[in-house]
Amino acid sequence: MKDIFEEGKVYEVLLVTKSNVTPIGVVRKGNKFHFKLFGGKSFQEIKNSPFAVLHVIQDVELLIKAALNMELNIEFEDAKTVPIKRIKGMPATIEGKVEWKEEQWKDELGETKVLSCVLTPTYQEMSLIPIKPLSRADYALLEMGVLLTRLFVATRKNKVDLARKIYSKIWENYQLYKHLGGKSELAEKIIGLSVISVRWNT
Ligand SMILES: Cc1cc2nc3c(=O)[nH]c(=O)nc-3n(C[C@H](O)[C@H](O)[C@H](O)COP(=O)(O)O)c2cc1C
Repeated sequence: MKDIFEEGKVYEVLLVTKSNVTPIGVVRKGNKFHFKLFGGKSFQEIKNSPFAVLHVIQDVELLIKAALNMELNIEFEDAKTVPIKRIKGMPATIEGKVEWKEEQWKDELGETKVLSCVLTPTYQEMSLIPIKPLSRADYALLEMGVLLTRLFVATRKNKVDLARKIYSKIWENYQLYKHLGGKSELAEKIIGLSVISVRWNT
């Protein structure tokens, strides 16, 4: 797995905890994977049961649907080395034990608690799947998804200027997505949720 994760670079993967699936950005340092959890269900679950499965996927829509808690068309099976489930049929799987530390975090969205996590792999598995060509449309959609989760926080905290700034970045990425031939209705959904979020909270 070392070969596919360049050390120090952030990669977006699916995190499976005791009963939750969510996208996270991980960074490999040596043979360990580092990530941060900002509040939410995964945060609590890792604290109560420090095991996780990381799935490397090429499906941007699955990452975004998991972030928005939409229905995912997936099946679970028991993980091999940790007492939680993992998703069946994923291209690559890393199971591991998680050491965590609660820390204070400050950025433009404000101050909050984060769970700083380090996963030590106990088992890794990679399957041969056909490679998918790179599309900038996928990256634009991925960026829209990440920005939307930031917009939710900005509007919840009543940061009006920041929320407008994030909204306009989402809109720019949407234009790019369409320009590059993106067709997923998830893009419209993100725009819809952004408009609602900005209108109702600012
Ligand atoms: C591509 C992508 C990457 C994300 N990376 C992270 C991350 O590294 N840490 C985090 O706390 N939330 C991340 N998020 C946001 C979470 O998915 C979102 O806040 C989620 O609702 C919180 O997770 P929960 O299901 O654990 O409550 C990401 C979202 C997207 C779309």
